[in-house]
Amino acid sequence: MIASRRSLSQAAFAARIDIATKSAITDGATSFAALLRGLPSVYPTEALASVDRLVDDKAIDPAVAASIRREASVTAAAAVAEGRSLLPLPHPLDYEWRFTPDAARSLLNRAADLTPAKGDLLLFGTPGLAVEALTLPIGRRLAFLAEGNDITDRVLALNRATGSPLAIAFCSGGLPRESADAVLLDPPWYLDFVRPMLSAAAHACRPGGVVLISLAPNGARPSAEADRHTTIGFARRLGLAVIDHSPLAIGYETPFFERNALAAAGIYPPPQWRRGDLVVFRKTCAPTRPPPASSVRRREWNEVGIGRMRLFIRRADEANSDEASLTSLVDGDILPTVSRRDPRRRLANVWTSGNRIFHTGNPQLVLEAAISCAGEAIGSGVQPRLWSTIRERKTLERVAAELRALAAIEAQEEGKVPTVATERSVAWRWSSTNYSSRSTATISG
Ligand SMILES: C[S@@+](CC[C@H](N)C(=O)[O-])C[C@H]1O[C@@H](n2cnc3c(N)ncnc32)[C@H](O)[C@@H]1O
Repeated sequence: MIASRRSLSQAAFAARIDIATKSAITDGATSFAALLRGLPSVYPTEALASVDRLVDDKAIDPAVAASIRREASVTAAAAVAEGRSLLPLPHPLDYEWRFTPDAARSLLNRAADLTPAKGDLLLFGTPGLAVEALTLPIGRRLAFLAEGNDITDRVLALNRATGSPLAIAFCSGGLPRESADAVLLDPPWYLDFVRPMLSAAAHACRPGGVVLISLAPNGARPSAEADRHTTIGFARRLGLAVIDHSPLAIGYETPFFERNALAAAGIYPPPQWRRGDLVVFRKTCAPTRPPPASSVRRREWNEVGIGRMRLFIRRADEANSDEASLTSLVDGDILPTVSRRDPRRRLANVWTSGNRIFHTGNPQLVLEAAISCAGEAIGSGVQPRLWSTIRERKTLERVAAELRALAAIEAQEEGKVPTVATERSVAWRWSSTNYSSRSTATISG
């Protein structure tokens, strides 16, 4: 048992993937899409690496492998528009992978089936699910517990526009206790996110209620199985007992940032290849751990919207020069992975929703430039600070032009015409100070 709780080595993980790949191809998965469907949510680059290893080992037909490779490298004729386009684009720094509409519906149905007829449902860290719920005749009281960000602002607006079927609260405003019969949550697939969010969910759940969570399937990474065991052990101390584990039951849309990351690696997967494991817990006793005061994560980034592009800029107190540039960190600027373990992530302090990363020695000035673009975008006349020198003003204008160009490129990649001049939204926010300053829960609906 102990062995199965340990993270697999990369070699053991690759060997497992090879077995699954060979068996999928033997069973007739001869296209790239069919291969990904036949694998347990294996990342497309890993799947192709596995195909290459199997060819080297003469374990599969090289003609099939060549055809899978060819298909993987062919871009779709028209870019696929982001699913659920009513929401702003997901950002890689939020690890926001959204459910497919089918998965969202089946999760809500499952929660309804597992709870009494008038049971209350709480959606936690699931903006896509919240938007889906707005349009469905669920017949239950529904609440959405959210982070404070542009996505939640949009959910708030959509909620108001549809007659406020959702009660919306910010997690910075304190966490609910024993308030729902089912809690549905989808933390980013890392234990440092899963633990605090699951703990908050356990405390929010009424005795006898259920908690539904999506966790990384075995094929997602070497530590997935061990992480799931750790999560289930942690849940036990929260009074949660597993009543069901459905591997690969939850479908996800490929977000624009991941599509760009894979395209930068020369790979074009089908739009819904990723799946998660659904684990359902019943709250059988009170948690032995105290409730967390809040589930809010410390954020080091400011966010500015330029058209549909969401630009995250790492906070810096002082401008440290009157010059500024966006320095490329990778060829073509798009980070070709979405893995948190990629060391290049640490160097970036400017990050777009299309997974472009840059370093700047002057984040403050880039922020000012971005705000000036956003000001143009919303027509609000937001002005940057008064710059004392012509040189600084020129730098600001140059960086603003670069940011506008990035927004236009990403709008095209996304398959949309640039909307810089027309997009109307809350265009920028301070992510750290303002998030935590929402000290009282904002309830709507
Ligand atoms: C994997 S996404 C889940 C999205 C979901 N699949 C959907 O379609 O609605 C993870 C979400 O958790 C949110 N999140 C991360 N940390 C959080 C926290 N401490 N409290 C609440 N939400 C959090 C992120 O903003 C992101 O929206």
